[in-house]
Amino acid sequence: MTAVLGIETSCDETGVAVVEDGFRIAANHVVSQMDVHAEFGGVVPEIASRCHIEIIAQLVGKVLHEYPAEIDVVAATQGPGLMGSLFVGLSFAKALAYARGLPFIPVNHIEGHIYSAFLGVGPPQFPALALIVSGGHTSLIRCPGAHVYQVVGSTRDDAVGESFDKVARLLGLSYPGGPSIEREALGGNPEAIAFPRAMAKSKDLAFSYSGLKTAVLYEVQRNPEGDKADLSASFQAAAVDVLLIKTKRALLEFPAPRLILAGGVAANKLLRERLHNELDLPVLMPPLDLCVDNGAMIAAAGYGRFKAGHVGDMRATPDPSLAL
Ligand code: KG4
Ligand code: ZN
Repeated sequence: MTAVLGIETSCDETGVAVVEDGFRIAANHVVSQMDVHAEFGGVVPEIASRCHIEIIAQLVGKVLHEYPAEIDVVAATQGPGLMGSLFVGLSFAKALAYARGLPFIPVNHIEGHIYSAFLGVGPPQFPALALIVSGGHTSLIRCPGAHVYQVVGSTRDDAVGESFDKVARLLGLSYPGGPSIEREALGGNPEAIAFPRAMAKSKDLAFSYSGLKTAVLYEVQRNPEGDKADLSASFQAAAVDVLLIKTKRALLEFPAPRLILAGGVAANKLLRERLHNELDLPVLMPPLDLCVDNGAMIAAAGYGRFKAGHVGDMRATPDPSLAL
């Protein structure tokens, strides 16, 4: 058995976990800074890194207390993400690995999200097509085998989660926008306003979400008394519709035996239901609590790298725009 301690600090969640054999979660804790950033309507990078510094030692201590058995490998997010935030988790993880004489494996955050789909399920299964949707990413990724990736579609401007956050701010709903819009949309009519399905007709697999945000802004300016529930439901319908259209197109172009859905926006119920109902292939998606950033997904991806022969790299430094 191999136990990996995973540390995630790329954005506004401090996540620490121990995962056994790459998929069994033995301990997992996430501390969110959501409330701290809420008053600014978005993540403030300098505040984020300071919050990570304040909590990281305590959180690692808590996880190691819950998991007193031996740790074999330490893994942490190297990027992409916020420089200061990445720096805290990566440095802490390297120091811990050095002190215990363990290999340190740097992990790509997006690879972590891909591996989150297998947590609690079993060893990762490839090939697959992955739809990664978060506050920073909207990507369709071909995964022909373990640790082999080809990004076949990504956003030209805003990420889909970012558009949920921006539209929520526009409507006076709380941060983060995804859950608030989803809640507000429950009482609204998704067909009330026909928002554009950006790039839906283009033959490629690119996304664009800034036009949708602007369309909501114009609608609010045109009709300031408009029903927030209808606006939320119509926006959510358009945002999710484009994800469905592009994912179906990607599967025609790059057939795969399974789809992986992951990232913060993967918590969206409409998206989960539509993918589940409209695709005739298995859709692997993490449970809601593992959609947001966490240490378990980093441990899972780190385990995969370790088993693939990665011997560790103490010289790894944070890379805010690390490519897959
Ligand atoms: O993966 P994540 O925790 O952090 C990044 O790597 O970006 O994703 C956070 C994003 C935020 O934009 C948030 O609004 C969005 O995920 N989100 C949702 C939902 N829950 C979180 N978007 C739509 N529906 C949700 N239920
Ligand atoms: Zn993420």
